[in-house]
Amino acid sequence: MSVSVFAAATVANVACGFDALGFAIHEPGDEVIVRKSAQSGLRIVAITGDEGRLPLSVTKNTAGVSAQALLDETGYTGGIEMEIHKKMPLGSGLGSSSASSVAAVVAVNELIGSPFTRAELLRFATEGERAACGVPHADNVGPSLLGGFVLIRSYNPLEVVQLPVPDELWCSVIHPHVEILTEDARNVLRRRIRLEDAVVQWSNLGGLIAGLYQGDYQLIGRSLSDIIFEPTRSLLIPGFDMMKQAAMQAGALGCSISGSGPSVFALCRGEEIARAAADAMQHALTKAGLGSETYVSAI
Ligand code: HSE
Repeated sequence: MSVSVFAAATVANVACGFDALGFAIHEPGDEVIVRKSAQSGLRIVAITGDEGRLPLSVTKNTAGVSAQALLDETGYTGGIEMEIHKKMPLGSGLGSSSASSVAAVVAVNELIGSPFTRAELLRFATEGERAACGVPHADNVGPSLLGGFVLIRSYNPLEVVQLPVPDELWCSVIHPHVEILTEDARNVLRRRIRLEDAVVQWSNLGGLIAGLYQGDYQLIGRSLSDIIFEPTRSLLIPGFDMMKQAAMQAGALGCSISGSGPSVFALCRGEEIARAAADAMQHALTKAGLGSETYVSAI
């Protein structure tokens, strides 16, 4: 018997919700296949789509770390073989490590008889994030596991809240062909924040969540602003200002960095505007001489 699970890419932070908010998009994503084997313990037997860059060692691979954390808690010692099929770029800001971790824990859980609920799997998947960037942030794994918009209400204890998504909310994502490691993008963050800036940021986060509950697209748009982290991190993303301006001119509600970048997302009302925003962002980047791909998805 084998179990195959696909887990979706995610947009973390969503401008004003650093480490606290994220949402899932329908593609791209990663696939993990697991099966029982005669040799005891968990083994990663194949990884594709990573150009040979990811480790096969369970203790070094984010999907392996997450799955092993789950197995350790159950005491399961039987043999499991895992294949990881990467279908999204590494270091893209789209939650690549999270998608593998989530697919791994969902697949292994099902293979051994589903001892955990889907929500309970979250804490194992966050262990993969700790391995990937040193911090067990849950704003990618939460939405990848649960779908839609997810708020990390608390890290200690871990508590997540699934938020409503207005029917016409679409997302355009552009992935410029540069790579930024989350660990590096976290190292450039300022550690001290002015009280006035904090007030603006948490007011926007409240406004964004109120906008989701009320289906108020204009409120969502006004709240999609990151005055604390975007000014620093955007310097690492070639063409960021041009992409943002292009998305807003195409009618996007708001635009910011996806996770730790370099991907950039725009929230839009309806598919038509989302496609126009994606085209406009890609056009702006092409003019700057950079390759990219775009993804347009309902949320
Ligand atoms: N919240 C994390 C960060 C997301 O911004 O570092 C990384 O994808």
